[in-house]
Amino acid sequence: MKYGSFSMTTTSKFLESVREHRESKKREKFSGVLEDYLKLIEEDRNIPALAHKRLYEKIIGEGVTVLDETDPRCNKLFNGETVKTYDYFSGQFFGMERPLEKVVRFLHSAAMKGEESRQVLLLLGPVGAGKSALVEHIKGALEQCDPIYALDGCPIREEPLHLIPRSLRDEFAETYGIKIEGDLCPVCRHRLLEEYGGDFTKFPITESSFSVRGRKGVGVVPPMDPNTQDTSLLIGSEDISKLDLYPEDDPRVLSLNGAFNVGNRGIVEFVEVFKNEIEFLHTMITATQEKSVPSPGKQAMIYFDGVILAHCNEAEWNKFKAEHTNEAILDRIVRVNVPYCLEVDQEVRIYEKLIGRSDFDSHIAPHTLRVAAMFSVLSRLKPSNKVDALTKMKIYNGEEIVEKGLIKKVDIKDLREEVEDEGMTGISTRFIMKAIDAALADSTKNMITPISIRESLIKQVKEQIVNPDERSRCLAFLQKVLHEEYLSILEKEITKAFVTAYEEQAESLFNNYLDHAEAYVNSTKVKDRVTNEEMEADEKFLSSIEEQIGIKGSAKNNFRADITSYMFAKLRRGEVIDWRSYGPLREAIESKLVASVRDISRIVTKSKSRDVKQQKKFNAMVQTLIDDYGYNEDSAEEVIKFASNNLWRDS
Ligand SMILES: Nc1ncnc2c1ncn2[C@@H]1O[C@H](COP(=O)(O)OP(=O)(O)OP(=O)(O)O)[C@@H](O)[C@H]1O
Ligand SMILES: [Mg+2]
Repeated sequence: MKYGSFSMTTTSKFLESVREHRESKKREKFSGVLEDYLKLIEEDRNIPALAHKRLYEKIIGEGVTVLDETDPRCNKLFNGETVKTYDYFSGQFFGMERPLEKVVRFLHSAAMKGEESRQVLLLLGPVGAGKSALVEHIKGALEQCDPIYALDGCPIREEPLHLIPRSLRDEFAETYGIKIEGDLCPVCRHRLLEEYGGDFTKFPITESSFSVRGRKGVGVVPPMDPNTQDTSLLIGSEDISKLDLYPEDDPRVLSLNGAFNVGNRGIVEFVEVFKNEIEFLHTMITATQEKSVPSPGKQAMIYFDGVILAHCNEAEWNKFKAEHTNEAILDRIVRVNVPYCLEVDQEVRIYEKLIGRSDFDSHIAPHTLRVAAMFSVLSRLKPSNKVDALTKMKIYNGEEIVEKGLIKKVDIKDLREEVEDEGMTGISTRFIMKAIDAALADSTKNMITPISIRESLIKQVKEQIVNPDERSRCLAFLQKVLHEEYLSILEKEITKAFVTAYEEQAESLFNNYLDHAEAYVNSTKVKDRVTNEEMEADEKFLSSIEEQIGIKGSAKNNFRADITSYMFAKLRRGEVIDWRSYGPLREAIESKLVASVRDISRIVTKSKSRDVKQQKKFNAMVQTLIDDYGYNEDSAEEVIKFASNNLWRDS
């Protein structure tokens, strides 16, 4: 963590913010009676909105973006179906578009008072998939909502419109277009009679906000040990010290501080909900079904308006689901699966987010987080009959797969349909973060590299994964699949650093290839770009590129024809083409360049055998790695050493 240098201006600037903050808090709080409140409602009919609606509108209000065919992720990953993303969650949650869409859809239906307004939203997913983080973020939305109005002194901060007697509610609905739900809580009813002589126009009304830490509008129910489970946690209790002062059925003895009381008008969260005994959860049923919760003691039921969010993992869910006596609860649950992220690019962003939050300031060599992300995604994928694990991982990440000179046509939809419930098992984000910490602790140079993270992951898998099949599957990914994959990434990178003006060379190979392929296909001549001289298509040159990706014999003709028409079609559509435009050709050009420096790479990276000229070339390459690719001296040294030990072996 770096701190700015302190000066008087820094401090006085901050003090200015402190003053502004205090000013903003000074704003006069509303205080009035029914008449004043009705005037407010006249201006804004949304003021008495119920909890689901308030939350929904807050989230939607931050902005909605629709990913359509113009977005590459939409095309490749969502089969071209449109996907809505919500700005309130963006930058915080990655690769989670589908679950988020379902959560917001739930809130939407509930806001419209559909059946969902009487249901529990259950987030179901494996450990570390972001369920708690998601619930926290949703609770955070409440804190940003406009203040609510409530009966002054009401322990459950109830809606002031509850004052309006039943007999006037039809007229109220006609006048304001608002249907009043719910009746006064026992405490306010008692006060209305005792303190205001039953005159509901005199009952004071105040303004109040939401606060997670202040337990205002947010009630949390942690999983309870069966022995200490006590419904008072949910619905409050009778205050024994007051039992001497008042008769037993006097509402003044009530302490309405249970989760459903606190979370009234906001959110009640059940953490690991099915760890609780079923009896304990019955309050949840009444809260959803009847929109009211029992009151402690002998009082009437208390109206409840709130969003009930629960989360748990799959094992607990399956156990709970199997019990047929639990049907009543099951029927009142809307389940949203929150699987692990299965997109490598997005998984990397999760790690970046988590690292960004810590005081972490070590060097992270290029591809380090990607290697970790590839590992976690591989571990989460279910095997496919159509492709190998690595290919599936790449397709899920929207990458093009080139095989035998062709773009492999595998529909992501087919792969998804092949399996059920993918992403509900595998390596968790926490496992990866621990491996990153361990790699760092082992490092003497305050850095992590793809090499050290892989070692750390291997160690952690051996230590922590007990299931032998799972352990060997994970080790195979780390020791074989990712070892090779990383080497091929590294070889390309070092080649790029070696070849001066890599991009230009690639581009020039591309242009030459196109010129010659076109001439070959059309049986015309090639015009030299500089001298304008005409010449025959150079078949030897064409083949030297095609061979890089295993295209031989008559396949060459097809390849040349395909590329020519592909590029021509692109140009006709006014698109720009370059050497990266067509996957197979890009790969061929890359390998051609890699091959062109393979010998020199081998010699030069072996430190003992460098002559002066080679040393110069080596230094330039290292400098490029540092200046252009984000390595530092130590990490460049480490990856080069790794490359020279594992690539370009003297055969
Ligand atoms: N898809 C994701 N996008 C962004 N962050 C994520 C994602 N998945 C996990 N995380 C992060 O990983 C961390 C662990 O997630 P969290 O604690 O919310 O998991 P959980 O599902 O509640 O797990 P558990 O079942 O163990 O309680 C959090 O900091 C969260 O922000
Ligand atoms: Mg959690």
